[in-house]
Order: sequence, then structure tokens, then C-alpha cells
Amino acid sequence: MKQESKTGVLGYGTDAIKDAGKFAIKTESVSLRRGTSKITVDISRRREMSQSPHYHKYDIARYDLHPGYVFPEFLQSLVPAGTPEFVDSGQRYVERMTRALFYFKQCALIGPSGTGKTHITYLVAELTGLPVWEVNCGLQTSSYDLIGRFIGLGKENWVDGQVTSWLRFGGLLYLDEANMMKQDVATRLNPVLDTRGHLVLTEKDNEIVTRHPYATLIISMNPFSAEFSGTKPLNAAFRRRMSVWVNFDFESVGDRVSQQEVALLVKRTNIDENTAYKIIRVGAEMRRLYKAGDLPYGPSIGDLIHWAVLIKDGSDPLSSAEETIVALTSDSVEVQGDVRRVIESVFNS
Ligand SMILES: Nc1ncnc2c1ncn2[C@@H]1O[C@H](COP(=O)(O)OP(=O)(O)OP(=O)(O)O)[C@@H](O)[C@H]1O
Ligand SMILES: [Mg+2]
Repeated sequence: MKQESKTGVLGYGTDAIKDAGKFAIKTESVSLRRGTSKITVDISRRREMSQSPHYHKYDIARYDLHPGYVFPEFLQSLVPAGTPEFVDSGQRYVERMTRALFYFKQCALIGPSGTGKTHITYLVAELTGLPVWEVNCGLQTSSYDLIGRFIGLGKENWVDGQVTSWLRFGGLLYLDEANMMKQDVATRLNPVLDTRGHLVLTEKDNEIVTRHPYATLIISMNPFSAEFSGTKPLNAAFRRRMSVWVNFDFESVGDRVSQQEVALLVKRTNIDENTAYKIIRVGAEMRRLYKAGDLPYGPSIGDLIHWAVLIKDGSDPLSSAEETIVALTSDSVEVQGDVRRVIESVFNS
């Protein structure tokens, strides 16, 4: 099947989503029968961007990211499905990210490992019905992977890379670990993200690929610091092109134990509330130590869920911690001893 690309006009890359509101309303006719008479009523309502069961938990209906536009069938498998809800205590991360994409078409997420940046990106894509093109910049990602390459002789043997496909067909490009991006890759991306909003395929007879009107971008990264080896300050030109920065952090840290995080653990694992509370307390203390530089890693709620699953299966808390968060934190015997002390102080108190 030949895939038709629907490219937009050469335009302003960081403009807001065009024609917002114009198509976001759909009209449905509803017929009511009573006896021999029939009444037909037209009801106007907002088009829902997604069938996700979590759609109505977030106040995003006014930020339609592809008003009136349905992505072609062959992209539907790239729209995430079944992403769990994202829990916060009033920061409204989902709303802020969707709003940033609506007004600026791109935004940056920054926060330590395990604070949910990848999770929320998938959730926002699912809630707004966007196919995801994902690139991990931390691997040895070359511009071939991003832009495309010839896989044999002859012009017909060109294969688009992720970024080129995203530009042609639209959807959400997710650049994970963006501050590990190689300089040559950043240089190729810069014109795509600014006013020019297009890519010139110098490899392919200088074909100009313009940015699809519903091509949005999220970049994510860990804060620049020594312990995230490989990170470097984000390229300045790239940085300027991001209008909105959303900061992520752990919900529970030190003495601050978030009830939402406890409730999430109970919901995801069916563990009893008292044990869930203790697990989150251990997590919060480990994150405090991590932030103070005394542990090499602070556990995510995902890591704590794994621990809780084994407890729910019948293991006692200390031995199931050995297989999960103790081993996960470090190979070092001393560090593992530090983690054990935290666990024992909470569970044996
Ligand atoms: N607020 C949250 N609500 C629900 N689940 C969460 C939340 N934060 C994190 N998680 C869960 O924690 C785990 C880690 O999240 P994720 O992989 O998205 O982190 P990340 O910020 O992308 O980390 P990294 O920087 O290492 O890529 C996942 O299982 C995710 O579902
Ligand atoms: Mg991630």
C-alpha cells in the first residue's frame, strides 16, 4: 500500500493548533419515537479525542490537538492504549502538557529517573489520540535512524526515519533523554523546531519535508548532573525552541508521604493499606537519601509496585525487598546495607 503523506504548508513551526474549536464540536442527530410521532433533535457536543477510560479525569477537552482530523488507519497502531492513570497531588501535569502542545506544539519534561515522564507522555498521546514516534537519544542514535537512509540502489529504496515519518504524517514525536543527543542530530532537528518547520533531505535530492499541522513534540530528560552519566547541558539552540518546561519530582520524599501514592499502590496491587503506607515510607526515605547524594538511586512508584506484588503473592516484606528494591539500588554491599536499614526501620517499628 502506498502511504499518502499529508503535509502542511510551509509554516510557522511553533504556532498554535490551527482552527481550534472550529471542528472540535460534533453534531449528532438523535431520534425519539413516541407512538406514531418521531422527533429528531440535533445535539452539538465536543468531539472526544479518545476512548480512554481516564479521559474524563483530566480537564483537557478544550485542547483538541487534531481538530477534525482523523489520523490514517495505518497509524492507529501507534496510538497508545491501556496506559494507566497518572497520579499527582494537584500539579495538573496532564493538563499543563496538553495545553503546551495545543499552544506551542512542543514542550520539555525534566525530572529524575522514575518520576513518570515516559508514562505521562504515553498517557497524553492516548488521551489526545496521537500516534507516537519514539526516539531514545541516549542510545547510539544516528541521523540515519532519525532522518532515513537508502537500503539499496535506486531512489525507490529510500526508507524514512522516525523524524521524517513524523513530519509527513503528524502525531507526537517523543525524544527521550534529549540531553544525550549527539550534536549532529540536534543540528538537523533545529530547523524543524523553529519558524521554518521543515526538514531538507540533503541525502535525497534536497526533498523538502514540511511539518504536518498536527505534528507535536515532547522532549524529556534527567536534570544535568554528574550522576546521570552521559547527560550534558541541553544544546542552547534546542533549549530556546522549547516554550514550556514541566518539572517532575517524586510525590513522596522524606517525611512527606503522599496519600495519592499510597492509594495508587493499593489500587494497582490490592495490598492492604497499612503495608502500602510502609512501602511508600521506605520509598520516600530512599528518595530523600538519593537527593542528598547518599544513595545512587531513588525508587519510582513502578519499582515500589514490583515489591508490593511479591508481598501480595505471599512473600514477607524483607525477603521480597531483597529481590526488588535492594538489588535494584546497587550492587555494592555497603549501599545494600543502607537500604536494608531503611526498610527494617520502617517495617520493624
Ligand atoms: N505519578 C505517577 N502515577 C502513576 N504511575 C507513575 C507515576 N510516576 C511514575 N509512575 C510509574 O513509575 C514507573 C517509572 O515511570 P517512567 O518510566 O515514566 O519514569 P521516567 O521519568 O520516564 O524515568 P526515566 O528518566 O528513567 O526514563 C512507571 O511504572 C510509571 O508507570
Ligand atoms: Mg523515561
